[in-house]
Amino acid sequence: MGEVAFYKDRFVGIEENVVPIQERGHQFGDGVYEVIRVYGGEPFLMEEHFDRLERSAAAIDLRLPYRREKLKAIVKEALERSEIKEAEIYFQITRGISPRQHHYPECDAVFALTVRQAKTLDSIKREEGVPVTIAEDDRWLNCYIKSLNLLPNVMAKQKAMAKGCAEAIYQRDGIITEGSSSNAFAVKDGVIYTHPATRGILHGITRATVIELAKEMDIAVKEEKFDTEFFLNADEVFFTSTSVEVMPVSEADGTRFPETRPVTLKLSDAFKKLYIKGQ
Ligand code: PDD
Repeated sequence: MGEVAFYKDRFVGIEENVVPIQERGHQFGDGVYEVIRVYGGEPFLMEEHFDRLERSAAAIDLRLPYRREKLKAIVKEALERSEIKEAEIYFQITRGISPRQHHYPECDAVFALTVRQAKTLDSIKREEGVPVTIAEDDRWLNCYIKSLNLLPNVMAKQKAMAKGCAEAIYQRDGIITEGSSSNAFAVKDGVIYTHPATRGILHGITRATVIELAKEMDIAVKEEKFDTEFFLNADEVFFTSTSVEVMPVSEADGTRFPETRPVTLKLSDAFKKLYIKGQ
């Protein structure tokens, strides 16, 4: 019961020291990862996360150590061992363990996983929104790969937190791309805008779900580039991720957004219904 961890081929103690010094995951960030939310004991949108994992792995020429069925069986066993019903599953696959060299060594990929209690979402923030700051998108150009290399994201989030903000929203050449760990949306005149799913952003599972929900509710969605000025003048702004779901934004670097957010609210309610229905 409680937090559970798996490394390579066995379940390990969450505090156990198991990662060898020559693991490419921590030497190079040479790997990919996923985060899945579990609601009422059920992993949410698991196939979509595995699809993206396989795309990320293929993009870095990484062969998965196990087939999807086996990975899902490990996830299932981990959840059973943990007995956590509202959980966050983190897993990563690295290129493996080998004496340090830049080019790919001949070694087997390594799968690692943790299960922990999901953070409860603050209902006041959900209602009132959270402040964000705009940051320069100084990441590499393959942000569609969910790579372990998160140093720019970590630094952007740290700067945002130091300013009392919940998220850093990236701009690249004046165009809003996404958040440091989320996808960004703006609503103007009843239309939802979000950056197209190019190589420049992570193709968020929550993003895709929210777009689907909007279409079902006859809310127009434009996957188009928009600039920071448009973003700051939006009627509503929100960001999405597996951990925060649909999070309204109250202000960006001092620019306040209107307090009524009909579109954000509709989407956030519809999203909740999806996982409640699954329980
Ligand atoms: N982050 N963009 C970035 C850069 C992200 O890191 C994430 C997710 C998203 C949203 O993707 P999804 O809806 O599939 O969670 C967008 C995860 C949660 C993390 O790193 O913890």
